[in-house]
Amino acid sequence: MSVPRDYDVNPRRFALGSRSPAARALYVRLAERLRPFARVLDVGCGDGNLRAESPQVVGLDGSMTMLRAHPAPRVMGEAAALPFRDGCFDAVTAVNMLYHLPDPLLAIREARRVLRPGGLFVAVTRSRADSPELAEVWRPAATTFDAEEAPALVGEVFERVEVESWDAPLVTLGDRAAVRDYLVTRFVEPADAGERASRVRTPLTLTKRGAYVYGSS
Ligand SMILES: C[S@@+](CC[C@H](N)C(=O)[O-])C[C@H]1O[C@@H](n2cnc3c(N)ncnc32)[C@H](O)[C@@H]1O
Repeated sequence: MSVPRDYDVNPRRFALGSRSPAARALYVRLAERLRPFARVLDVGCGDGNLRAESPQVVGLDGSMTMLRAHPAPRVMGEAAALPFRDGCFDAVTAVNMLYHLPDPLLAIREARRVLRPGGLFVAVTRSRADSPELAEVWRPAATTFDAEEAPALVGEVFERVEVESWDAPLVTLGDRAAVRDYLVTRFVEPADAGERASRVRTPLTLTKRGAYVYGSS
């Protein structure tokens, strides 16, 4: 199932999770890979996490709330119908966003259309086996673009696919309030999240699992 888009009605949920040191490390690593590319489109750019590390990024997002917080250049738009001509970007990224689409292939095909020949597509997403230490109180729901299926989906559009996975104890939740907030970022209602957090022993270190999936032709 696709993940709901609540960025205009509940921006706080996203904000609770997006500024952690582990999250920042993800963008720093991606920015390193993007360094040789002059024209980079970040589809589903949010409020600018990648742009903070990659100054050449043009942001595109379907949420006005998110886009307002993203530095220019930025464009309001839909991942499945990009408002750009063919071949005008050297790289296109889609970081933690393709799981919002009922059919992510529509957006991956659009990314390929706006890429120049030999350009790089990068999708980042998480695994269904993320944060196993929370298993007694919460499990991630399957989405339309989990790390388990992402390489095959990208491979339907691009000839070459490269996967770089992570599977490491990257996040420590210091107390129950931190566990509650983490669960809220993963769409658990706040009251329910508080109750579930009360059953968890803290501090709790979480194993984060996900992947960068690179596509090129
Ligand atoms: C989890 S946030 C990630 C934001 C950013 N990529 C980051 O990593 O910080 C997902 C973003 O994708 C945007 N989004 C979701 N579906 C979209 C679509 N179909 N077209 C454009 N933007 C979309 C949302 O508005 C939101 O800003």
